[in-house]
Amino acid sequence: TDIQGTVEFKNVSFRYPDGQSNVLQNISFKVNKGETVAFIGSTGCGKTSLVNLITRFYDATSGEVLVDGYNVRDYKKDELSRKIGYVSQKAVLFSGDIQSNINFGDNDADISAIEKAISISQSEEFVKLQKNGLEAHVAQGGQNFSGGQKQRLSIARALARKAEIFIFDDTFSALDYKTDKILRNALKTKMKDSTCIIVAQRIGTIIDADQIFVIDNGEIVGHGTHKELLNTCDTYKEIAQS
Ligand code: CTP
Ligand code: MG
Repeated sequence: TDIQGTVEFKNVSFRYPDGQSNVLQNISFKVNKGETVAFIGSTGCGKTSLVNLITRFYDATSGEVLVDGYNVRDYKKDELSRKIGYVSQKAVLFSGDIQSNINFGDNDADISAIEKAISISQSEEFVKLQKNGLEAHVAQGGQNFSGGQKQRLSIARALARKAEIFIFDDTFSALDYKTDKILRNALKTKMKDSTCIIVAQRIGTIIDADQIFVIDNGEIVGHGTHKELLNTCDTYKEIAQS
C-alpha cells in the first residue's frame, strides 16, 4: 500500500504547555494519499492546534501523530518540513520581491515551479499587473497587497515546494467565493496526487472534500461527506444554515 502522503491521528489529546486543560480530546482519523480532507468548527474549537501537531509546532500530550506511517517525533525536523507545505492562518510576507517571498525556505525551487504555483494560486492576474512581475517589490508585512492577494501568495509559496501534504489553515476565507472555488478546482486537477488538509470557516470551501471532520470544543463530533453530515451531524447542519 502507498503510505506516502498519509496522515493519521491515533487517540490524540493535547494541552498547551502552559494550559490548564486539553484543547484536543481523543482525536482519531486517517487521511489517505491524494485525499482532500477538511476540518470545520467554530472559532476556538481547536482546528489550528490540531494541524500544528502535524507540523510539530507542538507535540501531542498523548496519542500518536503519524505522517507516512511514522510518528512525527521520529523525523528529523527538515525531513518532516520537506514533506509538508503549510499555509498559516495569517499570511506572512516579508520585504523583498514576489519571487523571494515564494521561494522562502527553499532555494531549490525552480522558476517553472514558481510559475506553476503562481498560476494555481490564482496570483497570476495581479502579479502580471505589477510593473516588474515576479520582481515586484513587496513591502514589510506585504502592506502593498490586499488580504486576499497576500493569502494567494502564501499559498503559492507552499505550492512551489515539492511537498506531499499541504495544510491550509483557514487560508481560503480571505478570498471571495469565486476565487476560492477556482483555486480549489485548480488544486484538485493540478495537484491531484497531493494530500490536502483544509481548515475552513464556511461550508462552500469544503463541500467537495473526500472527508469532513466537524470539531466542537476539541472533539470530533461528526465525520463524513457533506451530504452525509447534513443528515448525521447537528453541529454541521447549524454551520450550513449560518
Ligand atoms: N490556545 C491556547 N494557547 C495557544 C493557542 C490556543 O491556550 N497558544 C487555546 C485557545 O484559547 C482555544 C484553544 O486553544 O481555546 C483552541 O485554539 P485554536 O486551535 O487556535 O482554535 P481554532 O479552531 O483554530 O480557532 P479559529 O477558528 O479562531 O482560528
Ligand atoms: Mg485557527
